[in-house]
Amino acid sequence: MLVFVPSHPLVKHWLAVARNRLSPPPIFRSALAELGRVLIYEAAHDWLPTIDGQVETPCGIADCTFVDPTKPVKVVPILRAGLVLLEQATTVLPAAETYHVGYVRDESTLKAREYLNKLPASLDAEDRILITDPMLATGGTIAKVVDDLVQRGASPAFIRVVAVVAAPPALKLLSEKFPGLKVYAGMIDAELDERGYIVPGLGDAGDRAFGTA
Ligand code: URA
Repeated sequence: MLVFVPSHPLVKHWLAVARNRLSPPPIFRSALAELGRVLIYEAAHDWLPTIDGQVETPCGIADCTFVDPTKPVKVVPILRAGLVLLEQATTVLPAAETYHVGYVRDESTLKAREYLNKLPASLDAEDRILITDPMLATGGTIAKVVDDLVQRGASPAFIRVVAVVAAPPALKLLSEKFPGLKVYAGMIDAELDERGYIVPGLGDAGDRAFGTA
């Protein structure tokens, strides 16, 4: 598995805004949305299927390349916080379909329990699938989602994960279970605390995005 952390000043900037505990929910959400936009651009590179064609300009005929509208990216936001990154996914990607999944974390076991699953019954091995989940901490939730996608026919080689902050336990789990999977993150942080939160991280992304902290 490969992890990409773009060395882009806008990624650094919006990550700093998101990390700041004083950023209120609207600012926090827009920082995550901007991070999502840059990371999705990176993730889409060399991955989106394209077709060649021509368009008529006001001055002549131009050979062009388009994103293939017949092969829309399947975007899978993990609720709640993945919704914030999804805002950008659907505007950056010319053709996309959205399949929500929802997980809630049991704070005593730190294990994720599914409460919503809108994934299609079957997937094609070449479907491009983009999972949005801001915080890859223990990796429990994201591993369950990738596992579910693979069970339905998807191939890890065509699945990309967009995250704001990733931690070593999640990256280790994903790399062991899903060779070929690619993760695009704003930063890799050092560790988790005893509650499973990423340190320094940015706190509970869902609570901060939706003002329920
Ligand atoms: N989920 C979060 O929202 N934050 C963390 O630090 C870890 C998991």
